[in-house]
Amino acid sequence: MAHGIHVLGIESSCDDTGVAIVGHDGKILSNCVHSQLKRHLLHGGIIPMVAKEYHVDNIDRIAKQAFQESGLLSVAQNIDTIAVSTRPGFNFSLQVGLNYAKTLAKKYSKPLIPIHHMQAHALMPLLQNRFIKFPFIALLISGGHCLLTICERYNKFHLLGSTHDDAPGDLLDKVARRMRLKNLGPPFDSISGGAAIELLSQRKNANRFKYFNCEESVPMIRQRNCDFSFAGYRGVFEKIVPTIDQLWESGDRDKLLDELGHVCGSLQRAILIQLFRKLQRAMLFYRMYWRYNNPDAFNQENSNTNHLGFGIRRANNEDFDWLDVVVSGGVAANSYLIEGLKLACKQDIDPNFNVHAPTKDLCSDNGLMVAWNGLLRYLDCQKSQINNEVDLNDSVIFDPKQMDLVEAISEYPIGLDITQQVKHNDFKLSKLTFSELKLKSKH
Ligand code: KG4
Ligand code: ZN
Repeated sequence: MAHGIHVLGIESSCDDTGVAIVGHDGKILSNCVHSQLKRHLLHGGIIPMVAKEYHVDNIDRIAKQAFQESGLLSVAQNIDTIAVSTRPGFNFSLQVGLNYAKTLAKKYSKPLIPIHHMQAHALMPLLQNRFIKFPFIALLISGGHCLLTICERYNKFHLLGSTHDDAPGDLLDKVARRMRLKNLGPPFDSISGGAAIELLSQRKNANRFKYFNCEESVPMIRQRNCDFSFAGYRGVFEKIVPTIDQLWESGDRDKLLDELGHVCGSLQRAILIQLFRKLQRAMLFYRMYWRYNNPDAFNQENSNTNHLGFGIRRANNEDFDWLDVVVSGGVAANSYLIEGLKLACKQDIDPNFNVHAPTKDLCSDNGLMVAWNGLLRYLDCQKSQINNEVDLNDSVIFDPKQMDLVEAISEYPIGLDITQQVKHNDFKLSKLTFSELKLKSKH
């Protein structure tokens, strides 16, 4: 019955209004996003109530555009189900997408699929690469989150660690604001803080080793867990700000850009080191503990294999040492971080570990990841693998009365919390051998 299925996906959890349509074979029929970035740059950050108003102003237009681009005839005739981000995110923003989705679902008698925004980020790379297999490790880095998880199935996640304070995107946005990057003019006045920092770090001669070049400037790397901390960089950064301010005042643009290049390059490298060390620990935990204690994850009988070709690999074949690592979320658009993680994993850990990220355009928030996650659940539901006992948030909802019970939820766990297991295992990491990541121990 898979043929002809089309899933509409709606995303409005933060500052992007996204609507997309995906076909039963994973074919992307349309993916339209309205970004509020330029407006929020003017306000100096996202104000949730303002973000909500922009969603209200744009959602219908973006939905109609997505429909038109898909070449389909009508929701009534061609859409089978409507998936929507319901958690986590800004509550008021989420409500806009959710209300829109409920209205459509009821009007055209289509099932509604509530989606976890961060799970959708984690699953995004699977649409582009069918060889990624469950279980895999997912490192999710965005403006609001920093999570390390094991994704056992498309709907089953284990949380290994998360950030104690800021998310990496949040840090990059704050630093970009503090350095007044948007005042550099085009393109800096219309790109995110993270993208601006990446661009400056690519400046010729940008010295990635000039700042944040000792272990003290990389928080949490000595702690034997998979937790993160990024707020501390702001303190270190404050020491550099006067130099940047002076250069702004001097009017010497070349010198200013050079110094900004050093700061941005150094900051990215410091973030890379923290991400890599925590990822390394996650891999060690997976390899030394988790896979032996979760035999079901490797049992083909429990597999969600469907016509899309996804499956769970068996434990006792030659694939056992192979591990896919997915890095996703807005900050995964950063090529330096992704290439750095890929190289470090291959050279410092094991060539059997393979890092994947979505293409840049699909790292930040979009409706396609929601539609894709919705398709996976819809197919699973058709095989009757989802029973009615499951949480409404994880099901396919046919009854309009039940749709009324679905709510936008600003904070929501990604899955089973196994952070204590990681801590109890207390694995010690070997020394970094990858030269690019080596640090001095003192200033
Ligand atoms: O996933 P996302 O679109 O929204 C959230 O759910 O947070 O992520 C947005 C974040 C912003 O903080 C932005 O600065 C960051 O992703 N970002 C980047 C890049 N492009 C966007 N960070 C680093 N490098 C980039 N190229
Ligand atoms: Zn996101």
